[in-house]
Amino acid sequence: MLLRDVEPADLAAYVRMRCDPVMMTELGGPQPRERIPGQLQRDLETVSEGSAWIKMIVPDDSMQVAGTVTLYSHDGISEIGWMVLPEFRGRGLASEAVRVVLGLARADGRWGLIHAFPSRTNAASNAICRSAGFSPAGEEETTFAGRTFQTNHWVVDSSAPA
Ligand SMILES: CC(C)(COP(=O)(O)OP(=O)(O)OC[C@H]1O[C@@H](n2cnc3c(N)ncnc32)[C@H](O)[C@@H]1OP(=O)(O)O)[C@@H](O)C(=O)NCCC(=O)NCCS
Repeated sequence: MLLRDVEPADLAAYVRMRCDPVMMTELGGPQPRERIPGQLQRDLETVSEGSAWIKMIVPDDSMQVAGTVTLYSHDGISEIGWMVLPEFRGRGLASEAVRVVLGLARADGRWGLIHAFPSRTNAASNAICRSAGFSPAGEEETTFAGRTFQTNHWVVDSSAPA
């Protein structure tokens, strides 16, 4: 598996990931197609400024993007999130990508406590948090893309050894 920064050519992958009702079941539902080019442009700018990591997951046996892992700071906290397209799920790609990004964050040293807020019903994402070394920190109402839903709160300290 390769992790690379988001590129302008990732528009189609963004549309697949953000406008597909299956992809967005646990993230508050699909987003309108017309919002996606602006979202991609903002993400490209954020990555070129170095203030967030938006990594695309490319499996070894495919040239296609399988998903993303994003690490960014907002409201004084560091937050990580992830997505994998349905046809690439169940192969360990998300787990591996999250472990790699946490390793990069530990080496980088600036991210401190990293928070994740998977939906309470998102079994795979909660399993990823557990196996990647996050600790449970309660339950929250989280807003993503303008929608609010019930999430578990998980935290890992990237300034401590794995
Ligand atoms: C969550 C998601 C990224 C998982 O991707 P994936 O590549 O299939 O995940 P993996 O194959 O690495 O599996 C991760 C873990 O979940 C478990 N898992 C996978 N599918 C599962 C399912 N349907 N039910 C329960 N557990 C599941 C795996 O056994 C693995 O557990 P382990 O770490 O203890 O071995 C993917 O389902 C997705 O994109 N969902 C929609 C977007 C989303 O909800 N993102 C979360 C935002 S925080």
